[in-house]
Amino acid sequence: MTDPADTFSSRAAPGLRNRVALLTGASGGIGTAIARRLAEDGVDLCLAYGTHGEDAEAVGADARERGRRVTVTSADLSDPEAPAALVAHAERELGPVDLLIANAGIADVRGWQKIDLASWNATLAVNLTAPFLLCQQVLPGMVERGFGRILFVSSVAAFTGGVVGAHYAASKAGLHGLMHHLAPRVAADGVTVNCLAPALVGGTKMFPADPETGTPPVPIPVGRIGMPDEMADMAVTMLRTGYLTNKVITVDGGLIPR
Ligand SMILES: NC(=O)c1ccc[n+]([C@@H]2O[C@H](COP(=O)([O-])OP(=O)(O)OC[C@H]3O[C@@H](n4cnc5c(N)ncnc54)[C@H](OP(=O)(O)O)[C@@H]3O)[C@@H](O)[C@H]2O)c1
Repeated sequence: MTDPADTFSSRAAPGLRNRVALLTGASGGIGTAIARRLAEDGVDLCLAYGTHGEDAEAVGADARERGRRVTVTSADLSDPEAPAALVAHAERELGPVDLLIANAGIADVRGWQKIDLASWNATLAVNLTAPFLLCQQVLPGMVERGFGRILFVSSVAAFTGGVVGAHYAASKAGLHGLMHHLAPRVAADGVTVNCLAPALVGGTKMFPADPETGTPPVPIPVGRIGMPDEMADMAVTMLRTGYLTNKVITVDGGLIPR
């Protein structure tokens, strides 16, 4: 019979060292920063990119130099077949996925009148459907093993509506609903499900402004735009913290009061 103390200690604040993470959007500004932080924490990495393989390969090479096991692979997450193939690849190369960071996202800037069905469907496919399909693949194993971390990268646009468009805001708000449904159903199995909701993070392809010198397009209380490393710091804190689940953490320079 399992000693309750063992069960407690195995679920209480476990370190991330030697865990396996599947990170989507690993070629992007926030994704590369998260990959670096995870490698520093001793996590093995499946780095998935869409089209910018060189960026994901570069961060993968850094992680290998730190002694991490790394696989870098492309996956077009607008394809509903891609999530299952991606998880199969990660598990074949590295073993069961302990951490899923669904970070890939697209932002097709359009007024609501100009959003056609193709743009709506493409946004929902990458930003919401793919994270759900990835969860369906990895959650059963996490529950069985009694440990798992799901982190969705949503956006402050889920609360405010944002400036990208109705399709983007709806896709990000959808992640919050998905999290609220899943989190309580797997919480007792050692699996946490959370959302990190950034705003105006520079140095990304989505918002290329220089985080050091760029001028915020809207007034931000801290007086500057955000940095990818700040998102990565919060992401890794959320992944480390077994007592944090079913939460949206906004990292937005004080933009919205919550
Ligand atoms: N930057 C911000 O201000 C901000 C604010 C709020 C939320 N976010 C969210 O943060 C996340 C990361 O974005 P980022 O700021 O780092 O922007 P980014 O630099 O543009 O990164 C986006 C990532 O998503 C990947 N991606 C896009 N379409 C894909 C597809 N069809 N299949 C697979 N991967 C795809 C890109 O891959 P490739 O480049 O290889 O194609 C890239 O790695 C996104 O979910 C975004 O919505 C960003």
